[in-house]
Amino acid sequence: MTDRMHVELQVVRDDALDAGAVAAIGELFDREYSAEFGPWTRSAPYGYAPAATRVLAFADDVLIGHVGYQPRTITVGGAAVVIGGVGGVLIAPAARGIGLGARMLHAAQQSMSAEVEFGYLGCREEVVPFYEAAGWRRITARERSLSRLDGTPVVTDSDPILIRSAARPDHDWPEGDIDLLGPPW
Ligand SMILES: CC(C)(COP(=O)(O)OP(=O)(O)OC[C@H]1O[C@@H](n2cnc3c(N)ncnc32)[C@H](O)[C@@H]1OP(=O)(O)O)[C@@H](O)C(=O)NCCC(=O)NCCS
Repeated sequence: MTDRMHVELQVVRDDALDAGAVAAIGELFDREYSAEFGPWTRSAPYGYAPAATRVLAFADDVLIGHVGYQPRTITVGGAAVVIGGVGGVLIAPAARGIGLGARMLHAAQQSMSAEVEFGYLGCREEVVPFYEAAGWRRITARERSLSRLDGTPVVTDSDPILIRSAARPDHDWPEGDIDLLGPPW
């Protein structure tokens, strides 16, 4: 797989996916994660919140990339904020390093801008530079969510949180503690 290969992006609502696409998404995730985390599921992948809309990348009809997002009203400093929670960011190993992940994040941001105020995601420290290179901004805040493992409340102070402008510019992000009012993505 090279940067000369034609890659087509599709933005698809989860409820409009056909069975073939669902199977392809499962295969993409299972190749990456099944040994460590078990099988991918559509409605609660690894216990995370599910995607309502998915950006899919195909090369010659083979799925090589996925980015999902789910609109949700959360609270920040006690006030309601509508975000697109981003998860399931995965590029097939042979297609990494050619800008596809950045391109797919951009497509997700364009799509969610009609629905939400900001994009939102949490990630491992090692991948923060990837999101920052794609225009996401790291913020520091206390975040409350429900555990992907058992649904109990979890509070973190230092795990990376990144936001992206959608309908509102990212400098409008309010001060204060964040409550995701559900599991992360
Ligand atoms: C992380 C991942 C999605 C990046 O996708 P990609 O298509 O390879 O990334 P791109 O080619 O679009 O890279 C865009 C920029 O991010 C940087 N980057 C890419 N992967 C990176 C990483 N793992 N760590 C730090 N920087 C990274 C690139 O150097 C590039 O910067 P540049 O434009 O200044 O050169 C991909 O490596 C992947 O699927 N990894 C496994 C799953 C994963 O970790 N997902 C993230 C879960 S939060």
